[in-house]
Amino acid sequence: MTSLSILVIDDEPLMRMSIVDALQAVGHDVQEAADGTEGLALLQTKPFDLVITDLRLPGADGVQIVRACQQAPRRPEVIVITAHGSVDTAVQAMKSGAHDYITKPFSMDELLLIVARVADMVSLRQENVQLREELKSKFAFEGIVGKSQRMRDVLEKVKLVAKTDATVLIAGESGTGKELIANAIHHNSPRRAHPLIKVSCAALPETLLEAELFGHEKGAFTGALKQRRGRFELAHRGTLFLDEIGEISPVVQVKLLRVLQERQFERVGGTETIDVDVRLVCATQKDLKKEVAAGRFREDLYYRLNVVPIELPPLRERKEDVLAITEHLLQVAGERLKQPAKTLSPKAREILLRYPFPGNVRELENTIERAVALAQLNESIEAWDLCGEAQCPFLKGGEPLPDCGFCAVAYSGPTSPTIEDTTLSAARERFERAHILDVLHRADWSKTMAAKMLGLSRKALWEKCKRYGIVTPGDEQEP
Ligand SMILES: Nc1ncnc2c1ncn2[C@@H]1O[C@H](COP(=O)(O)OP(=O)(O)OP(=O)(O)O)[C@@H](O)[C@H]1O
Ligand SMILES: [Mg+2]
Repeated sequence: MTSLSILVIDDEPLMRMSIVDALQAVGHDVQEAADGTEGLALLQTKPFDLVITDLRLPGADGVQIVRACQQAPRRPEVIVITAHGSVDTAVQAMKSGAHDYITKPFSMDELLLIVARVADMVSLRQENVQLREELKSKFAFEGIVGKSQRMRDVLEKVKLVAKTDATVLIAGESGTGKELIANAIHHNSPRRAHPLIKVSCAALPETLLEAELFGHEKGAFTGALKQRRGRFELAHRGTLFLDEIGEISPVVQVKLLRVLQERQFERVGGTETIDVDVRLVCATQKDLKKEVAAGRFREDLYYRLNVVPIELPPLRERKEDVLAITEHLLQVAGERLKQPAKTLSPKAREILLRYPFPGNVRELENTIERAVALAQLNESIEAWDLCGEAQCPFLKGGEPLPDCGFCAVAYSGPTSPTIEDTTLSAARERFERAHILDVLHRADWSKTMAAKMLGLSRKALWEKCKRYGIVTPGDEQEP
């Protein structure tokens, strides 16, 4: 568990000592003060994550302490201890910004549970700050967020290949960022001052595509009223991005092969040979090698295009990126709405990590944008904000929606996903699961490292992950 730095202020020595002992026993760093004056003085000297204070105190009362905490370094959260019957003052303390209150008499378990929740919140906040810092520095490249090893490898390759004139073939499922990478290659290349021209080969029938790429002479076909330059000519000295290259017909394949070999072509219906200096970047969702094997794509063209292959892994195979991209999107949304960036609730985070994202980054982008809109004024995105339905019934405790992928993920979870059980054992499980996820994340998803940090054997951690339905990036995908 995250160890907090805590200040306990209470004038009753016995009460103070038992609280201090209980907190130290679970690993927190605790200081104590016997009255309000001493408490206020300590607040100025050292940063605390949490202050637990009696409401009625000699020197300064709990409400004053709450106010002082808002000015103190690190702005500690406050839990106020109230006597039975002093509900009015407790309400006042909450209104002044206390995090929670607890009424005497209470058990140490009750107090520890509230403290554990604060610890959760603090660690989430720290993680957000850390992620944001990382984004600013080494993981951002032309708006491309990539924290996973595989994406970092891709970005390294992009940086190297951008400097050259080599033909690049980008392969990846829909929404994995192929166009983003093509942009990055052009804008980091010596050709950046010249045009980047894009053509979607899937959008046009064969004859039109041919004319689009190579241009045509006046009268080349019905409707060709004047001469027109093609995309290859327009991209002269720059980069031509051919999207969905797997869709081009055999005739266009031949013509493309010739341009690649000779850097020359003729416009449709023309005889004049045109020389061009174009760098080619292509993208495909299809496995081109399979297309070659099936006889639908020329092998010689395939080798010409596949000089530098860049493969973009699906998002479900790089779960670290799910969180890093989400963080990036939340920050962008926050800036747009002129609000502080929203955070993710532990449950929402868990569902994002387990959801397979068939639409990859594009789907994640849509999901987060929708969730930000649904969460409106709330500080954090809750699990039900991820669902397409404005008020996802299942995640709030009702039946799952039949078509909702997020519901399906939550529903397949082995523990009760939503109903906020009030029993201590349910709360403990909730905490345990969130904490394991947190530590796994900090251990960069190494189970060996996480087990060590948690003080568990690898087997025990594995069993807990299974029990709580925690899927880590290295795990086999669920069917
Ligand atoms: N690593 C990333 N970091 C930030 N945004 C990303 C990343 N990858 C993709 N995106 C965003 O996801 C969306 C989809 O990316 P892009 O259009 O490049 O995908 P694509 O592979 O070309 O998809 P398609 O095959 O459907 O055309 C874009 O809005 C893009 O900005
Ligand atoms: Mg695309």
